[in-house]
Amino acid sequence: MSKTKAFLTSSVGRKLIMALSGLFLCSFLVVHLYINLFLFKQDNGAEFDAYGHFMATYPLVRPIEIVLFLGFLLHAVIGIWLWLANRRARPVRYKVLKASDSSALSSRIMWVTGIAVAVFLGFHVNAFFITSRFITTERSMYEIVREAFQNPLTDVLYIVALAFLAYHLRHGFQSAFQTFGLRNSRYEWLINLVAVVFWLLIPLGFAAMPLFFLWAH
Ligand code: HEM
Repeated sequence: MSKTKAFLTSSVGRKLIMALSGLFLCSFLVVHLYINLFLFKQDNGAEFDAYGHFMATYPLVRPIEIVLFLGFLLHAVIGIWLWLANRRARPVRYKVLKASDSSALSSRIMWVTGIAVAVFLGFHVNAFFITSRFITTERSMYEIVREAFQNPLTDVLYIVALAFLAYHLRHGFQSAFQTFGLRNSRYEWLINLVAVVFWLLIPLGFAAMPLFFLWAH
């Protein structure tokens, strides 16, 4: 086995893949949030739909979507592998979880928050992406989003899913920078700041969207 292959299949190598793929997925969240912010523009969705049209028709977007999908898949598969390896390494389970031990708790329930985000993604990609690209051409992307978010049940589901995403990112960031060996370095304040933007502000930005359509439209 080559040295690179041995490293990538080792526990440390897989942690590195998790950290890098996680940060890659976070970069997608920034772009996605930026485009979605046009939902708030008082132009009946004109600019948001223009972006949607660009995403659906510009040929270079296809390979990016495939890389994104593979990024999600890699992150999920390696995540499950690491979780199983951890369980095998620690056969005696802790019986009591102390409420104060919040970092250990968020770490131990990464698989729960991860599955919740994956289930949400399945629902979300079907409701918006597949519907707009393959099922209906009569309604614009803006109308599809507006209609979906006028249903209070959908809004509750989105807000719960975003809370799971926030909790997942909160531990994920800390864990990624631990893997890079950057925690407890002089950049820690910067890392903490970026982490708060990702785990708190970005999910809050997304959560504002269902609430906006529920109350304002
Ligand atoms: C709550 C506010 C959100 C709204 C209004 C929203 C809206 C949309 C829309 C309209 C699409 C279809 C885009 C297209 O066909 O080009 C889409 C796709 C997608 N969304 Fe969201 N989204 C939200 C939150 C999220 C979150 C939190 C995630 C990730 C955890 C996410 C992940 C995705 C993915 C992976 C796709 C398919 C890939 C793509 O179209 O680029 N979305 N979203």
